[in-house]
Amino acid sequence: MADKRIFPDDFVWGAATAAYQIEGAVNEGGRGKSIWDTFSHTPGKINNGDTGDVACDHYHRWQDDIALMKQINLEAYRFSIAWSRILPTGRGHINQAGLDFYSALVDGLLAADITPFVTLYHWDLPQALQDDGDGWQRRGIVDDYLAYVDIVSRTLGDRVQYWSTFNEPWVFSWSGYYFGEDAPGWQNGIKAALTTTHHALLAHGRAVPLLRQNVANAKVGIALDMNVAEPATDKPKDVAAAMRFDGFQNRWYLGPLFRGNYPEDMLELYAGNLPDIHDGDLAQINVPIDYLGINFYRRSVMAAGEEVPPVNYRRVSPSGDYTEMGSEVSPQGLYDIMKYVYDHYDVPDLYITENGAAFKDEVSADQKVHDTKRVDYLYAHFGQAQRAIEDGIPLKGYFVWSLLDNFEWAYGYQMRFGLVYVDYETQRRIIKDSGHYLAQVIRQKQPSSI
Ligand code: FCB
Repeated sequence: MADKRIFPDDFVWGAATAAYQIEGAVNEGGRGKSIWDTFSHTPGKINNGDTGDVACDHYHRWQDDIALMKQINLEAYRFSIAWSRILPTGRGHINQAGLDFYSALVDGLLAADITPFVTLYHWDLPQALQDDGDGWQRRGIVDDYLAYVDIVSRTLGDRVQYWSTFNEPWVFSWSGYYFGEDAPGWQNGIKAALTTTHHALLAHGRAVPLLRQNVANAKVGIALDMNVAEPATDKPKDVAAAMRFDGFQNRWYLGPLFRGNYPEDMLELYAGNLPDIHDGDLAQINVPIDYLGINFYRRSVMAAGEEVPPVNYRRVSPSGDYTEMGSEVSPQGLYDIMKYVYDHYDVPDLYITENGAAFKDEVSADQKVHDTKRVDYLYAHFGQAQRAIEDGIPLKGYFVWSLLDNFEWAYGYQMRFGLVYVDYETQRRIIKDSGHYLAQVIRQKQPSSI
């Protein structure tokens, strides 16, 4: 059934990746170790003992990968820079080969008429900085981050206009320092997570003017993983749990960024576990930005429970369709989170910086990958993006996660999110039906079903 609604002409279509998930070549080109090298090589941390050592070998195959982007008609490509390729020990010695790699990638993208969207930090802190005062726990990391951002933006700023300071601070703070499921794998309680968040937000706020200084006409933003927290029932205890979860995941980030304060109810809840917040920090964090990136994977239905005391929530799984990652397929949730941020915060332009799904993909006898579920998933989510635009929400672009099947962190290679299938034995790539579908959507500016 053809959908008559058309996306605006200047709407940007892209796909996203992250350095550690695709590059491989971890010991090449002068790259230093990151916390993800250490974590993935720690027995028991990653499904099947997988590591990012080779991943999609994108470090060597980036030209072929740009050719794939062209076949999918991508207009933009969101990727991250590995800090430890630029500064192998986190600070000090600059590795020219690392800068050259990203510089060539950017040139290749521009030559292919694909707009680069650079993410400066997608979780892979140089191990040397982790070893010095426990990484994001040390306030001085902010200066290290700024020195790194300065080098990268001075090198690429003549060609890259779109920058994201961070990808998903909630995840690397809580999963990295509280749940221990991502690098560095700490389980050190709330204060450690909140300290990481505070230093990352401060680093964000202080990087914005620096990027503006180094990049003419810079568009600077940050990507947050968010979804609306819905109470499982209308019982007051579930409504209150949903409100706390919203504070935990969404408002703790949106508040400082767009209002210059942490939410009062959460400050009370976290009392005794608060990070060291200096006078003036929040004013620096609350610097105007050009766009907010939303990474959306599911909605959150919440009941009162025992997770992360004193947040005390319990995730409820409604009946319906689920992805391989166990995320409920909830397209309406994409609309809801955009509407939520637009209604409650003075937000600038919005981009969906990540949305996608893992399903069990297989190469069929015809050597194609018929990922019908992913096509349906994208079709439904694109429709919600259109709805948002029609309602006046300033959504300017959409990046599908991910260009390639890749190293899905603690899940290893088991989870396939790509528009392009990767055979990890041979590094052969096959554009999945979803990739062909996206190519058609971009060509027609219209998410008709395939
Ligand atoms: C997001 C991450 C991204 C990828 C997707 C599936 O949380 O930003 O790197 O792992 O989930």
